[in-house]
Amino acid sequence: MKFFVDTANVDEIRELADMGMLDGVTTNPSLINKAGKDFIETITEICKIVDGPVSAEVAATDYETMMKEGEKLATIADNVCVKVPLTPAGLKVGKNLVDNGQEINVTLCFSAAQALLAAKIGATYVSPFIGRLDDIGQEGMQLIRDINTIYSSYDRINTQVLAASVRGAQHVVQAALAGADVVTVPPAVLHQMFKHPLTDNGLEKFVSDWKATGQSIL
Ligand code: E4P
Repeated sequence: MKFFVDTANVDEIRELADMGMLDGVTTNPSLINKAGKDFIETITEICKIVDGPVSAEVAATDYETMMKEGEKLATIADNVCVKVPLTPAGLKVGKNLVDNGQEINVTLCFSAAQALLAAKIGATYVSPFIGRLDDIGQEGMQLIRDINTIYSSYDRINTQVLAASVRGAQHVVQAALAGADVVTVPPAVLHQMFKHPLTDNGLEKFVSDWKATGQSIL
């Protein structure tokens, strides 16, 4: 499973990229707002740090404007993946971009029916939002399982399932078990994935026992 990080914070992206953890990045208008920097400059900078796909989302909701935005975003770098919303206009934009050889990520997917539509236009990624479904009392992970079952039944579907709106390390594990191709995680969740109390306790004991030997490796 590939790991994308879900943030527009360049410092956090650089740190995780240096750790060898990143296959790509996803951003959205809320994350751009949180980062507080110029959108185009931010995406340009992220594309230089990460080799993999960097999702940059259109901001408009009408076809004409979204199309212009998508075309502009696509010129930023070769690894930009244009993100479009799962609406009729969004998918129309997505289809045009795909036909021009552009990678796209269809966002705000909350049902298997919607995921079928994303596959129909040949989307590179579809992003089902697990956490937001959990928030309204549905089981987000069941959607990942359903989409994976459907997509796996058809050789012609190449759309990758990108598990999004991830709230914890357990979501990442469950998404992997459900067969997601990619998971996009907030930086805090990626850091959380390193954590286990037995790792901390075990390391503490190894450090103190090593000291007691009085030896040095170097
Ligand atoms: C996906 O690409 C979205 O940016 C993201 O995962 C949304 O997650 P949220 O529900 O935490 O905002």
